[in-house]
Amino acid sequence: MEITLQYVREGDYVIDATCGNGNDTLSLAKAVGPNGDILALDIQREAIDASKKLMSENDIKNVCFGQSNFTGMQKFSGFAFPDRAPSAIIFNLGYLPGGDKSITTTMEDSLVGIKEALELVAFDGIVTVVLYSGHEEGAREKEAILEFVSMLPSDVFHVVYSQMLNQKNNPPEVLWITKKN
Ligand SMILES: C[S@@+](CC[C@H](N)C(=O)[O-])C[C@H]1O[C@@H](n2cnc3c(N)ncnc32)[C@H](O)[C@@H]1O
Repeated sequence: MEITLQYVREGDYVIDATCGNGNDTLSLAKAVGPNGDILALDIQREAIDASKKLMSENDIKNVCFGQSNFTGMQKFSGFAFPDRAPSAIIFNLGYLPGGDKSITTTMEDSLVGIKEALELVAFDGIVTVVLYSGHEEGAREKEAILEFVSMLPSDVFHVVYSQMLNQKNNPPEVLWITKKN
């Protein structure tokens, strides 16, 4: 998150594509401050409710929540924040911690969602993707996403990939994709 936040300024518009329990939404909301705008999406009502609770506990009022698939992100963003380009979009893939593990991001949706995010994100902005390959769909999803981002045109996108090489149990891996003008 620290790297993502280097691309975010006070007053910016940002998107959390998978708000889950709201931890990333909270970090983004603190970074943009009360004059910024945050769009937080998740397909599960349970996740939206948990995130709303966390925002309320932290007195954060400027998050627009949508119980929606992130494959509809462009449409949702255009409706909620017309003419604004987000400086950061984060995908924390996988399933809701403490929730139903059968409801997880899928390779097909994630590829569509990431493509949408790369179109939508502002120039000089960042798309962050946290990958979890310790479950079957996560492993499939990771391979397809890595293949896709490796092919992005290098004059427009810079793709950085981090792995922890000495940790057990498939620790999370992170992609940071920045977009140049
Ligand atoms: C690892 S959790 C996110 C954790 C969250 N960012 C946090 O800080 O607590 C992944 C979330 O993605 C959601 N999800 C799965 N498929 C989705 C999709 N296609 N569109 C939006 N959200 C999705 C799940 O419901 C789950 O809450």
